[in-house]
Amino acid sequence: MPVRIAFPTETVLEEAAERLRSGELVAFPTETVYGLGADARNAAAVQKIFTAKGRPANNPLIVHVASEATARTLATTWPDWARKLADAHWPGPLTLVVEKTDVLPPIVTAGGLTVGLRVPAHPVALALLNACGLPLAAPSANRSEEISPTTAQHVADSLGPYVDDLLILDGGSCQVGIESTVIDVTGPTPRILRPGMIPLETAVTETDESDMGSIVRSPGQMLRHYAPRKPLIIVQSTIDKFSLMPTDGLLRLTGNPEEAARRLYAELRRLDNLEYVSRIVVLAPPDSPEWAAIHDRLKRAATS
Ligand code: TXA
Ligand code: MG
Repeated sequence: MPVRIAFPTETVLEEAAERLRSGELVAFPTETVYGLGADARNAAAVQKIFTAKGRPANNPLIVHVASEATARTLATTWPDWARKLADAHWPGPLTLVVEKTDVLPPIVTAGGLTVGLRVPAHPVALALLNACGLPLAAPSANRSEEISPTTAQHVADSLGPYVDDLLILDGGSCQVGIESTVIDVTGPTPRILRPGMIPLETAVTETDESDMGSIVRSPGQMLRHYAPRKPLIIVQSTIDKFSLMPTDGLLRLTGNPEEAARRLYAELRRLDNLEYVSRIVVLAPPDSPEWAAIHDRLKRAATS
């Protein structure tokens, strides 16, 4: 059966909640990217996510909840940093890695003792979480290593051939556009595992400036990720160092970093799907810290 894209009316939300309660998958919008959700307490349901995405079993999933209070029920302890960062940024594009309780089966966390938790800010995501009353394991709703989806149609394009009868809730285009900032708060100081549009500097400055000096950065584990099918190269200037070929698809990320993040994946998909384009050429954005997450995604997209 084909996928179904549906506007989240009350009836549709109730159907989605019922599907989740009975162990089926539902794709839904968040403010970052679309997620492919399943009941996080149900190992068989979570297995369907890995199968649909072709995701390696050693890559843990993020669990979405409706509130910090619910998040706490999935963690053995709630460190000070979890409290400070959740207070400052939830609901929002921030995932906190904490020690998990046994409520979550091992498959969710790839056998690990920690879990990534997030309260998303998208009204449809929150409505769905409230309607089903479940914690939802939800990675980005794309095949593994592909570009994350920022519209319902992207989800249909990416997963349609792989999931039978998938219900996709349509919440329009994602406002943030790239995946959440992932911060590990299990140690004495927070560690960034994946940069996002909330840089740790900001997160920390807003909570406790005195700890700024002790932040450790750690790069994500999977280098090739978020990648188009076509080769992607990053150039500093199209005039000085590089001459464009007629078959190059040029991406110039103008405006502020928030705008650029919002457009990034849709633009990459568009160029990837244009028949005459054989290579995607991205003009390097500015080198300032607000652009760090976009540089991170571009670097991964360019790695072959
Ligand atoms: O914005 C987002 O985070 C989106 C939306 C749907 O919420 N989700 C998302 O999920 O991007 P996914 O599965 O595509 O990326 C999750 C990232 C992976 O890089 C994974 O390795 C990391 O989070 N992660 C999850 N749980 C972790 C854990 N316990 N420890 C370390 N890293 C973890
Ligand atoms: Mg992903």
